[in-house]
Amino acid sequence: MLNRILLLAACLCGVLVGCAGPREPRTQVTDQPAVDTAQARLGRALMMKFGCHMCHLDDGPGIGPPLRRLTGKSRRFDDGSSGIADANYLRESILAPQRHIVDGYDASMPSFAGRLDEDQLAAILAAMR
Ligand code: HEC
Repeated sequence: MLNRILLLAACLCGVLVGCAGPREPRTQVTDQPAVDTAQARLGRALMMKFGCHMCHLDDGPGIGPPLRRLTGKSRRFDDGSSGIADANYLRESILAPQRHIVDGYDASMPSFAGRLDEDQLAAILAAMR
């Protein structure tokens, strides 16, 4: 009997905790790109290696915006202008990040100019599709 009461209490606790408060944002990073090609997988691995994932989470708000499936999305910048996340924009965001600051974020993205070669850049762009 005591066991059953304890079990019931444990279940209730679980339900209450589960419902209490706002849900935590998902802050997971996986090594799986949204579009699964060899190049995108390489890009994903490079993003882990170069520490992109420390600021860019997959699903939740991080220090920087989420990068998965970013390609083709419209962007708003802190100077009121806007644009589309095409290949040129994505390259610029990585090599000269201060040129466009995404609205709502700090200008804290470091430049990776000189640290990524063309093949690595292409792979990282593939991982953002
Ligand atoms: C120290 C934190 C930090 C690191 C490390 C970092 N970023 Fe960023 N990144 C940011 C922030 C903050 C922004 C938003 C401000 C801006 O637009 O520059 C951003 C913006 C971007 C954007 C534009 C996103 C959008 O929504 O338009 C891209 C693309 C990007 N980063 C790619 C990368 C890649 C690839 C790496 C690793 C090679 C990387 N970042 C590493 C902080 C970081």
